Amino acid sequence: MLKKVPVSSVIMGMHIHELCGSWMDHPFWKSGFLLQDPHDLERLQASSVTEIWIDTSKGLDCVEGETPEEARERGEQVLHDIATQPVRENIADELRRAAKICERSKEAVASMFNEVRMGQMLNTEQTQRVVSEITQSVLRHPNALLSIVRVKQADEYTYMHSVAVSALMIALARQLGFEDDEVHEAGMAGLLHDVGKMAIDDGILNKPDSLTDNEFEQIKRHPEYGVRYLQKGSEPVSRAVLEACYSHHEKMDGSGYPRGLKGDQISLLSRMAAVCDVYDALTSDRPYKLGWGPSETVQRMAQWTGHFDPQIFQAFVRSVGIYPVGSLVRLKSGRLAVVIEQNEKSLLVPKVKVFFSTKSGLHIEREVVNLAAVHCSDAIAARESREDWDFKDLDELWREQ
Ligand SMILES: [Fe+2]
Repeated sequence: MLKKVPVSSVIMGMHIHELCGSWMDHPFWKSGFLLQDPHDLERLQASSVTEIWIDTSKGLDCVEGETPEEARERGEQVLHDIATQPVRENIADELRRAAKICERSKEAVASMFNEVRMGQMLNTEQTQRVVSEITQSVLRHPNALLSIVRVKQADEYTYMHSVAVSALMIALARQLGFEDDEVHEAGMAGLLHDVGKMAIDDGILNKPDSLTDNEFEQIKRHPEYGVRYLQKGSEPVSRAVLEACYSHHEKMDGSGYPRGLKGDQISLLSRMAAVCDVYDALTSDRPYKLGWGPSETVQRMAQWTGHFDPQIFQAFVRSVGIYPVGSLVRLKSGRLAVVIEQNEKSLLVPKVKVFFSTKSGLHIEREVVNLAAVHCSDAIAARESREDWDFKDLDELWREQ
């Protein structure tokens, strides 16, 4: 939002949109920049310009009742945070890299899980390597790998699901402010949470129809089998990872399995794994059902009571977005679009690719629209359900960047 403020209120970290007054009085030849050099602020204060326009969607805003000293400190803190953040890669570059990481991780997980199935010990070193590679990608660009792992072929579901939950756990752990070693542990928990499924018959795991009571009882034993596998290794995984493997199907109201634990009785990593596991399962296409769109899934999960820890779920939404990459949305202009990139400052104005007009009922020329841009007059009007539209190539829209 554009806002006119007196120069006396300007602090570092504000985004200068335009300076008021004659251009001849301007201390800068440029406009539309983030104020991050103290010399620029001094030049502005020494000039004859008395007011400027700031863009509060791109930088800091004034806070009512704040003293000049408090405002100055706030500005410096934000600039410090920006300076110490890892450099974010271009999403198109990271998508290409993430596709390769995803392929390598999937193969590594397949061989690790199959070795476990054959009675061998878990290769802890290989597991650590896979988690480190996934972590690096998530740090370079949080949404690239998450977008790629959502799309799964039928025969690779269990392995890809493990990679996906690992990536989601890493992004969530970062959102929750975990230290680096704790982020790694969360990634390990995600990668290994379903290893016990290797003990379950494929016919039951991939059954398209609803399960019989007996079959469901067998599925419910996978946490127990998983813990047994993980305790076998010469370098057993940490207690927290074991706990997440055992308790990721527990629910906050005590209606989960295997122990029917409630609230805080469920470990933190288990509560995180519960959210990431369900989100990935619901958004994945299976041979017998099309996955829900990412945005719909977030919306529907938010309405369930008693399943997830509300604070963890909120942090999860902040990490994947209200309209995660791949979401189908309707814009106010009547155009349909797919979300292709999150906006770091606001989850409500992502970058989208428009491709269809609901007014004409026809496909239109694909165009990238940055809903956060100052000149952009369009906005998201509603999320759309993939089931209501017969678009076959929605995932291609964000992948073709
Ligand atoms: Fe599971």
